[in-house]
Amino acid sequence: MAAKKSTNRKTSRIAGFHKLERLARLEAVAKFAGLKAATKKHFAETGNLPSEIAERLIENVIGTMNVPIGIATNVIVDGREILVPMATEESSVVAAVCNAAKQCRNSGGVTTSNSGPLMIAQIQLIDIADPETARQKILERKSDIAGICNATDPLLVELGGGFEDIEVRVLQTAGGPMVITHLIVDTRDAMGANAVNTMAENLAPHIAKWTGGRTHLRILTNLADRRVARARALWKAKSIGGAKVRDAMMAAYHFAAADPYRATTHNKGIMNGISAVTLATGNDTRAIEAGAHAFAARSGQYSPLTRWEVTKDGDLAGVLELPLALGIVGGATRAHPTAQACLEIMDINKAEDLQSVVAAVGLLQNFAALKALATVGVQKGHMALHAQNIAMMAGAVGAEIDAIAKFLTKSGTVRQDVAEKELARRRNKIAK
Ligand code: MEV
Repeated sequence: MAAKKSTNRKTSRIAGFHKLERLARLEAVAKFAGLKAATKKHFAETGNLPSEIAERLIENVIGTMNVPIGIATNVIVDGREILVPMATEESSVVAAVCNAAKQCRNSGGVTTSNSGPLMIAQIQLIDIADPETARQKILERKSDIAGICNATDPLLVELGGGFEDIEVRVLQTAGGPMVITHLIVDTRDAMGANAVNTMAENLAPHIAKWTGGRTHLRILTNLADRRVARARALWKAKSIGGAKVRDAMMAAYHFAAADPYRATTHNKGIMNGISAVTLATGNDTRAIEAGAHAFAARSGQYSPLTRWEVTKDGDLAGVLELPLALGIVGGATRAHPTAQACLEIMDINKAEDLQSVVAAVGLLQNFAALKALATVGVQKGHMALHAQNIAMMAGAVGAEIDAIAKFLTKSGTVRQDVAEKELARRRNKIAK
């Protein structure tokens, strides 16, 4: 079928858009999309992220997107009482952590450990006839490589970080053999993407020269399996409703361990907590999520990130292990005022401490999901807040929101049409 000639005179080609002032950009978008004055006003207001900072974080900014930050209470990590800010749009996520944390306080809360802040960058070498020899030649240059990497970032070295090690693998691919060098770098309190990417770019020409091959990609891997955080906690059977609840939770875990369909949702629940603290502290949620899911699949079968077992005393023990490439300096963690404020609430001054808290929240989140699913289901908890959303969507304001939400939950039908009808009935009654 011949393509129809477009009669739409709108064009997304807006020359010099990036050079415009933010409000002029917003004007251009409003013209293109026919935005109402109220929508324009909505975008113009950037809340507690000043426009000049937003514009330094990304390109072509017109506004900001606010997500609520809720505080997880009751949390103890490595013996320290801590209030944890979580940025999420999903109801029940924060409450779940509060509940899970409360139920393990009598056994000391969550205990964590870290493998150290080691990031990996990859350098791809192609067009190489003798890959095994090239591999050896690269390994022979370890001290030269250390020198080149450390000269790239003397400040990192001064802070106690820098080059740690190399690994070199020969990869058989559909495009022929490749030699992949892993640069392992201690990035201290930074997430480290910039540090390791620059090192990889600086090192690549040397690798090409030493081997006679051609270097191609030079980029970090988000499978940061040298930067693993671990959390463990114990829930006394008597604190969680007894052996019956414990065994129901174990059956839920065994399901996830045997089935990737269930494991995906199990891990999604863990990431509810992990991504919420990651976002609240201005870290890269996509990097954390990509790393977590790849780690979950490292055995060849996608599996749960947590493991659960019953102790000899009949209590429930949970552990979580995953890569967490989190930083507290550089990028949005430093530039975003809310990220800084969230770190201040937690009194975190070391990236590894943030990794510990994030891993702890992931474990608590999973406990709460397993318990809810294995007992009353998740909808009951979800529905209370959901009912409020529906009430607002139906037009309820002020005290009406709670009243309509209560009516919806009580009636068991959390639907907008029901909310609208009830709201109209109430308003009529008051008007009479
Ligand atoms: C919902 O966001 C998360 C859960 O589905 C997690 C789970 O099923 O384990 C409740």
